[in-house]
Amino acid sequence: MEKLWAGRTDGAISAAADSFNASIAFDQKMIRQDITGSMAHAAMLASRGILTGEEGDAILAALEGILADVESGALAVSPAAEDVHSFVEATLTERLGDLGKKLHTARSRNDQVALDVRLYLRDESGKIRGLLLSLLKAIHQKASETQDCVMPGYTHLQRAQPVTFAHHLLAYAQMFKRDLSWLSDAGKRMNVCPLGACALAGTTFDTDRFFTAKKLGFDAPAANSMDAVSDRDFAVEHLSLFSQIMMHLSRFCEEIVLWSSWEFGFISLSDAFTTGSSIMPQKKNPDMAELIRGKTGRVYGDLMALLTTLKGLPLAYNKDMQEDKEALFDAVETVSACLSVFIPMLETLTPKPDAMRRAAGKGFINATDLADYLTKKGLPFRSAYKLSGQIVTHCMNQGVTLEELPLAAYKTFSPLFEEDLYGEIDLLACVKKRISYGSTGPDSVKTQLSDLAAFLKSRE
Ligand code: ARG
Repeated sequence: MEKLWAGRTDGAISAAADSFNASIAFDQKMIRQDITGSMAHAAMLASRGILTGEEGDAILAALEGILADVESGALAVSPAAEDVHSFVEATLTERLGDLGKKLHTARSRNDQVALDVRLYLRDESGKIRGLLLSLLKAIHQKASETQDCVMPGYTHLQRAQPVTFAHHLLAYAQMFKRDLSWLSDAGKRMNVCPLGACALAGTTFDTDRFFTAKKLGFDAPAANSMDAVSDRDFAVEHLSLFSQIMMHLSRFCEEIVLWSSWEFGFISLSDAFTTGSSIMPQKKNPDMAELIRGKTGRVYGDLMALLTTLKGLPLAYNKDMQEDKEALFDAVETVSACLSVFIPMLETLTPKPDAMRRAAGKGFINATDLADYLTKKGLPFRSAYKLSGQIVTHCMNQGVTLEELPLAAYKTFSPLFEEDLYGEIDLLACVKKRISYGSTGPDSVKTQLSDLAAFLKSRE
């Protein structure tokens, strides 16, 4: 296939350099976006009289035909093309003759590729947004069902204070809501159109970049032609955001791995989302959760790859920037695949309230409530804290829990203890007494659930 750029050189590039240089193997993923951009460009050229109305119409019809043929399979993307832009232009020229060669007036592959990547990300981020909303729905559902399910809350992975499983799940809802909000902010920042910046300096033709930007659904054309073709900040920002989504999923997965172990036994995963061992018949392994945790590293790698690619580049376009696409595609596909598996895994997992409750019964996680009890009876908190610690040590030596220690024994520590103590350190009571805004108390969890439901409704 003749090179678009044959002219200054004869285009007779070595076979090794040719295949090294080519990006068609991966950038053909953006063919729909490339053709969409070309159609807007052709319409703009016609609107400015740079092409005649007839020429514009013929190019538009031919581009539509190329897209339809690629999508139906009637036209195969040629691996001999250097990149997707060359392929579309060459096919157009095959179909229209010299008229096809007019399309590239007042544009360059530099602004074309910057446009295509933005359009691709805009489409994909819409799909990821849908997945995040489904995930939030799944969290809402599980949390609604587990409002009475008392479990130990942890700090340092040591049992700390009783919480409900619902409250724990709803913490993740906050993270994914932040991701959604970042996704929409990043989308707004990305929504400026580079097309028409041409190679780097703009053009001598009387184009209308506002027309093209509007036609393609952008808020405005990019304001500086050099920035337009050398900016990949939007890709870095999306990769950062994808890294954060993966980090959130990975933390959730880590907990799922722990919770589904024999040691915790807080949940059981559906057989549909586990695997067995080829040698140990008793095993049911949380491979999906582990793989999602593992794939987080890939997405961080994609972010680092792009940041590193960009860091030494002088303005404007450099061929290094061709390296942006594989990292971006990999991250998009990894995040989408992970969310698509994580959501049904969460929907089908079974919480084990008895096991959570048993674990909550051990570890003296109501010791803070014991200290609060003494504080409410007039002892300064620091003294109540110290005394409660001594009572915990005593219970450990006796092999009993705080609920099991008799009142007479409590009284040897302080005369402030009365029978009402037992109502205060009961685990469910401990949860119910947490009345502060955002706490694990039942009213707070109900508020979180209804806020989340309202949020989901507003996004329908
Ligand atoms: N395949 C190239 C890329 O992905 C397209 C832009 C090529 N521009 C150029 N001046 N060689 O970046």
